[in-house]
Amino acid sequence: MKTKINVEDLNLWYGSKHALQNINIDLHKNKITALIGPSGCGKSTFLRCINRMNDLIGTANVEGKIIIDGKNIYDKDVDEVSVRKKIGMVFQQPNPFPKSIYENVAYAPLKHGLVKKGRECDELVEKSLISAGLWEEVKDSLTHPGTSLSGGQQQRLCIARTIAVEPDVILMDEPTSALDPISTEKIEALMLELKKKYTIVIVTHNMQQAARVADYTAFFHLGDLIEYDETETIFVNPKKKKTEDYITGRFG
Ligand SMILES: Nc1ncnc2c1ncn2[C@@H]1O[C@H](COP(=O)(O)OP(=O)(O)OP(=O)(O)O)[C@@H](O)[C@H]1O
Ligand SMILES: [Mg+2]
Repeated sequence: MKTKINVEDLNLWYGSKHALQNINIDLHKNKITALIGPSGCGKSTFLRCINRMNDLIGTANVEGKIIIDGKNIYDKDVDEVSVRKKIGMVFQQPNPFPKSIYENVAYAPLKHGLVKKGRECDELVEKSLISAGLWEEVKDSLTHPGTSLSGGQQQRLCIARTIAVEPDVILMDEPTSALDPISTEKIEALMLELKKKYTIVIVTHNMQQAARVADYTAFFHLGDLIEYDETETIFVNPKKKKTEDYITGRFG
C-alpha cells in the first residue's frame, strides 16, 4: 500500500475561525477515501486544501504540509495552477462550461498544450468520454451544448473534463447528491473503475455510498479528524465513541 498524499499538521483558519485543526493523514494511492462527518465539520475545506483551491478564498490561511509524491504543494516554488491541473475536482452541482460537449473536454488540454487541434484532440476527447462512461450516449451529439445533457450525464461530462488533463488525483465533493439513484450507481461504478488509474478522495453524506465505494473512511467533527481507518472498521468496529454515534445516526 503506497501513500499518495501525506498530510502533516494541517491547520486552516477562515479569519479567526479555526476550521481545520492539526490534521495528519496519509491517503493511499489507487484507493478511494471517503470523508464523512456532520455539516460544517470541514470536509470541503479539507478537500480544497488538497488542490490549493482555498488559495482563492481571501480570508483562508493554511499552515502545515500536504506532500504529494514527495513534494509539499504549499512550498513557495510550487505554482498553484500546476497543482490544480494534477489534482482534479468534481463538484456537487455539475458545472459544464457554456460550450459544446466536445469543447468541455477539449478546452483545458488545448489550453495547456497537451494536444494539438484536430485528430490528436479528437482522440483525447473520445478517450476521456469513454473513460467517463459517457461516449456511447454523446458520440453523435458532440457539438450540442454540455448543458443540454441530463444532470447525471453532465456530472459524467465533468468527470471526462477532469480526466482529460490526466490528473493524478480526483477530488469529488458530494458528486452524486444532486443525482437520481441510477446516475448515482453509474458514477459509483465509474469511481471503482477510475481508482485503477487515479487516487480518489470523495466527500459524501451518504453512509451507504461510503460503505459501497470507499476503501478508507475518515470521520471529521468540528474541524478535527476523529478517526481514519479501513471503511469496514469505521462502519463495523469504530474505535471512537463519536464515530460510532455518528454512523449509527445518534447525531449529525
Ligand atoms: N469561505 C468561507 N469563509 C468563512 N468560513 C467558511 C468558508 N467556507 C467554510 N467556512 C466555515 O468552515 C467550516 C467548515 O466548512 P466546510 O464547508 O468545510 O464544511 P463541510 O464539512 O464541507 O460541510 P457540508 O457537509 O455542509 O458541506 C464551517 O464552519 C464553515 O462555516
Ligand atoms: Mg461541504
